[in-house]
Amino acid sequence: MAPIIKIIDGKTELAKRLATDFTSQLQQLIPSREYVTVALSGGSTPGLFFKAMVDMNPSLDWKKVLFFWVDERCVPANHAESNFGAAFRDLLKPLAIPESNYFRIRGEDAPEDEARRYAQLISNATGAGQGIPVLDFVFLGMGTDGHTASIFPHQIERWEAEGLCTVGNHPESGQQRVTFTGRLINAAARVIFHVTGKEKGEIARMIIKKNGNYAAYPASRVNPSNGELLWYLDAEAAGTWD
Ligand code: 6PG
Repeated sequence: MAPIIKIIDGKTELAKRLATDFTSQLQQLIPSREYVTVALSGGSTPGLFFKAMVDMNPSLDWKKVLFFWVDERCVPANHAESNFGAAFRDLLKPLAIPESNYFRIRGEDAPEDEARRYAQLISNATGAGQGIPVLDFVFLGMGTDGHTASIFPHQIERWEAEGLCTVGNHPESGQQRVTFTGRLINAAARVIFHVTGKEKGEIARMIIKKNGNYAAYPASRVNPSNGELLWYLDAEAAGTWD
């Protein structure tokens, strides 16, 4: 299935569009489901999306939405770099999401052990048994080097790692991170890239159009086997979209 590309001028307007679309999909899904599963991405880009969600403050039955994280830096939850910490501060707490509805990656624990624990947690929470969980929403960002989740170009083979979660290393700092693997990401019903800024535009366009050495970038391996792939791009990232 070809990716769906949404290009909105302005980071704030893009975030509002993403929040509006996400909310309307939740409104459609929640009534007919026992629960809806959402995996949040990390980094700085989601911040405006979280703000747009909080500003909208949609009246949703949040007790039926389960939140996970695509990846987490191996730091404690109160560390400035914690993806959970940012999401708790900017989304979960302001929207009063019940604590029973979010499942953080324990960045303070041994990474390999935590990757195994988190994979099992997701399997249990989704009732996937021995199968691969089909998450309803997986949000992704993309780095300026074309990484996504915490699968980096220098370790692109970890995209194919066995299991649902693995451990990656930031190429400069070496920081360890627990991350979804490609098999979990590509099993999702909806994978949503949220990418902004001129500095990411060339790689994003290469990946979407499969131009040049796009395959060198982990983000190019995102290809949901039975789900939708959407790119939310601001005009700067989209560039001259010919
Ligand atoms: C992380 C993310 C990572 C992020 C990209 C983009 O933990 O950092 O999961 O994949 O989405 O690095 O980060 P920015 O949004 O900060 O540019």
